[in-house]
Amino acid sequence: MTEETPTVDMEKIVSLCRRRGFIFPSSEIYGGLSSCWDYGPLGVELKQNIKQAWRRAVIQERDDMVGLDASILMHPQVWAASGHLEGFSDPLVECQNCHQRFRPDQVAMTKYGDPPSYFTAPDEGQLALKLSRAGFMRANVKFLNFLDYKDKAPCPFCEVVGQFTDPRQFNLMFKTFMGPVEDEASVVYLRPETAQGMFVNFQNIVNTARKRLPFGIAQIGKAFRNEITTGNFIFRSREFEQMEIEFFVKPGTDEEWFNYWTEERLNWYVRLGIKRENLRLREHSKGELAHYARKCLDIDYRFPMGWSELEGVANRGDFDLVQHAKHSGRSMDYYDDETKEHFVPYVIEPSAGVDRSALAVLCDAYDEEPDKDEIRVLLRFHPTVAPIKIAVLPLSRKEPLAAFAREIHTSLRRHWMITYDDTQSIGRRYRRQDEIGTPLCVTVDFQSLEDNQVTIRERDTMNQIRVPVAVLKETLQAKLEGEDLFVLPEGGQIWKEEKT
Ligand code: GAP
Repeated sequence: MTEETPTVDMEKIVSLCRRRGFIFPSSEIYGGLSSCWDYGPLGVELKQNIKQAWRRAVIQERDDMVGLDASILMHPQVWAASGHLEGFSDPLVECQNCHQRFRPDQVAMTKYGDPPSYFTAPDEGQLALKLSRAGFMRANVKFLNFLDYKDKAPCPFCEVVGQFTDPRQFNLMFKTFMGPVEDEASVVYLRPETAQGMFVNFQNIVNTARKRLPFGIAQIGKAFRNEITTGNFIFRSREFEQMEIEFFVKPGTDEEWFNYWTEERLNWYVRLGIKRENLRLREHSKGELAHYARKCLDIDYRFPMGWSELEGVANRGDFDLVQHAKHSGRSMDYYDDETKEHFVPYVIEPSAGVDRSALAVLCDAYDEEPDKDEIRVLLRFHPTVAPIKIAVLPLSRKEPLAAFAREIHTSLRRHWMITYDDTQSIGRRYRRQDEIGTPLCVTVDFQSLEDNQVTIRERDTMNQIRVPVAVLKETLQAKLEGEDLFVLPEGGQIWKEEKT
C-alpha cells in the first residue's frame, strides 16, 4: 500500500451505514435532500461517543478549559465583525449551456482525472488544485486563475466547452429572517462556525468562571454552510457539527501553544483508535490561509477519496477579539494581575468536525476477513466509540433460560449501552454484532443455568472465555478498558471460536 492508497472503498461504508442504521439520507421518502444526513440509532450513539470523548479530553480532564453552548442565531453584527459577511465566500461559475454551477477548481478536475495540459496555473494554484481535488478547504481555490482556462474547459456536467461565466463570489452563509417581517433589517444567519459564540462570550467567561490565562472555551454544536458542492458522504455537507476550542493565550506564547494543541489533538485521534499511519499533519501555505489565521495546520485523515482535512488547528492571533471590540465598542482586553498589563489575548483554535471524525472512525474500523466461503465484515471500533458495547445472546428463547439472560441484560444495561438479541442462529448473531462493531458478546446457554457461568466472546479475536456471572461486570469492564493481561476467574476457560 502506498501513501496515497485509500484504505477502504467509500461505497462499502455508505452501504453498511445505510444497511445497519448508522446514517440515512435526509428526507429519504421524498427522494432525499442533497448533502443532508440523518443519523440512525447506531449513528447517534457513535456520534455521541465521539463528542463525549472529546468533552472528556478537552474539558473534564483539564483545569484550564470550560464549556459553552451558544445559540446558533447570533446578532448580525457578529458576522460583520468576524469577516464572514464580506469574506466567507467561494468563487462560483455557471455553465451557460446547462446552467449547472461549480467552483472553478472543479471545472478542471471533475471526472477528467488530471488537469488538462492547457491548464497553466501559477504554482500556488497548482497546489491549490491538487489539494482541492482531494477535498480540501475553500481557501485553496481562491488562487486558481480560472480566467486563463475557462474558454478551453469542458463543463463537468454537459461537457460543452468554454461556456463558463466569469467567477463571482458566493457567500456561504444561510440567511433567514428573525420575526414576522421579512426585510433587510430582520436578516439573521445560521452560524457557519461555532467559534464566534466563544469570542463574544470571552468577557462573560473571564468574569464568571474565574479563569486566568492561558485558558480555553470548548463548544460542540451545529454549523451551516451553503457549500456550492458537497459530497463524499458526510465529509462535506451543508449542515454539520463542529467541536471547537478557542484557547486564549498571552501574545508571545502562541507558537508554543499552537504546537502543544497540534500534538494534543493528533494524539486524541490515536486514542480514539485511529491508526497513526492514516493521520498526517499538513501546514497551510501563506496563500491558503483563512482571512483570520496567522498560521494553520490541518490534521488530515486518509479518507477513501484521499488525504483530506479532519481538523484544523489555527493561530487566529488577536483578530477576532480586536474585531469584536471595534464593532461592539466593548473592551476585549485582559488584565494580567501578575504583570499589571492590559492586552488582547491571542487565540489558538483546534477546530474539528464531528461528522468527519465519525467518518474517519468508520473507515478506520472497517475490515473484512475470509470466513470459509463467506466474508466476515467487521468494524473494529475502539470500545470508547462503539455504539453498542455488549450484546447479550441467549442460545434459546425457552424458559428459564430467557429469564436468566434477561436478568443479566437488565443488570448490565445500567452501566453500558447494550443490546439483547434472541433471533436466528448464534453464528449469524455474532456476525451481526461484528458488523456494527460490538466489542463483546455475552452468550447464555443451558449450562449457564447449572454452573451460573456465561461465555464472553471477543469481536476481534473471536476468543471466548467462560466466566462466573458473579464477576461478569468486572470482567467486561476490564475487557472494555483494554486490559491485555486477562486473568481468568476461577473455574473459567479460554478457547478460540470455531468459524461457522
Ligand atoms: N472555526 C474555524 C473553522 O470553522 P474550518 O476549517 O472551516 O474552520 C473546521 O472548519 C472543521 O469543521 C473542519 O476541519 C471539518 O472537520 C469541519 N467542517 C467544515 N466544513 C464542513 C462541511 N461542509 N461538512 C462537514 N464538516 C465540515
